[in-house]
Amino acid sequence: MADMRVLVTGGAGYIGAHTLVAMLAAGQRPLVLDNFSNGSAEAVRRVERLCSASIPLIEGDIRQPGVVQAVLAQAAAGGDPVRAVLHLAGCKAVGESVADPLKYYDNNVAGSLALLHAMRETGVARLVFSSSATVYGEPQSLPFTEAHPLAPANPYGRTKLMVEQMLRDLCAAQAGFGAVTLRYFNPIGAHPSGQIGESPRDVPNNLFPFITQVAVGRRPFLNVFGDDYATADGTGVRDYLHVMDLAQGHVQALDYALAHPGFVAVNLGTGQGTSVLELVQAFERVNQCRIPLRTQPRRPGDIERMWADPALAASLLGWRSRRGVDAMCADGWRWQQGNPRGYETDPPAA
Ligand code: NAD
Ligand code: UD1
Repeated sequence: MADMRVLVTGGAGYIGAHTLVAMLAAGQRPLVLDNFSNGSAEAVRRVERLCSASIPLIEGDIRQPGVVQAVLAQAAAGGDPVRAVLHLAGCKAVGESVADPLKYYDNNVAGSLALLHAMRETGVARLVFSSSATVYGEPQSLPFTEAHPLAPANPYGRTKLMVEQMLRDLCAAQAGFGAVTLRYFNPIGAHPSGQIGESPRDVPNNLFPFITQVAVGRRPFLNVFGDDYATADGTGVRDYLHVMDLAQGHVQALDYALAHPGFVAVNLGTGQGTSVLELVQAFERVNQCRIPLRTQPRRPGDIERMWADPALAASLLGWRSRRGVDAMCADGWRWQQGNPRGYETDPPAA
């Protein structure tokens, strides 16, 4: 719904910044709460410039007692009540979740619980939640439909599943509550302007930001984790989707949540699988560059191949991915080239 005020937790992060652009284009009015543990105020400032809009940005932690209540209560008192919450704040590194599980249960589970309490106290009853395809675990059948059994293989995935379960239980108990859980597949790329994008603080864990850092000369080669999988070229297959398509999915999920109480989980993916080597080759072809490769052993815990069945997103939300792998590669490279160190040190281009 155009003109609705939406609290966006984690709005200064990678997916958050792109989602702000899509929301503003649809006339939705975001209000960002972020503790900047992995996001940056610069991302929000750039979105403001890109969209010629003003975005209220509050530095705060969803776990800190009273913070979310105060934000929601103040908006209501000012005559501009928050209609829905888009909950992206959380930690997302699988390896770190294995090494430090309590950090993940604290931020992802306790953080979400604190947010839900604050929403109940202030009468905000609509939520869209960032979940992950990682909740499915090892595929028993492909593509993954939302009915696939849920068996996440690491603490990160289990925190996402726990929040899904909390939301399901809350919707069952409180008739007026509505929650849409979005199970993202592999978002990559950047806004086509090259002004916002993914800005990992450490060595990237994920494939695409690693490729772009090799391309820009920050790393000498890409490690290919396993070339002996039962896939066409032996490398792992994933469902990569353009981050701007993912962003648009949130706009439509918010509209849906507003109109429909109850719980629903929806995949956001393209339905197409792409291997590591196929993605590298597309990147090289589209951007006319070379990515040196080194084959390494399989990464522990990796799944051989996975992709989404996106049919429910189409029928329920009216959402379909529109951009292909070539656009993901071109847009991701534009961002990395213009901002070799992400938001860290680079002033925005004029
Ligand atoms: P990100 O780290 O770039 O963004 C998360 C944002 O949340 C950051 O700006 C961070 O500072 C903020 N944050 C973290 N904890 C907070 C807290 N306690 N209070 C306030 N702000 C807090 O990550 P992203 O890639 O944009 O992911 C957003 C969400 O989507 C996460 O919940 C993540 O688990 C989920 N997700 C991401 C992917 C992916 O591939 N990027 C895939 C599946 C799911
Ligand atoms: C990882 C997480 C998943 C999370 C997702 C998106 C694991 C086990 N899973 O998924 O929970 O939801 O990120 O944030 O970490 N690859 C390389 N070289 C690299 C990096 C990756 O070859 O340097 C390969 C991987 O082996 C895999 C593919 O590229 O086959 C994609 O990896 P990645 O981008 O990390 O995403 P996922 O493994 O799908």
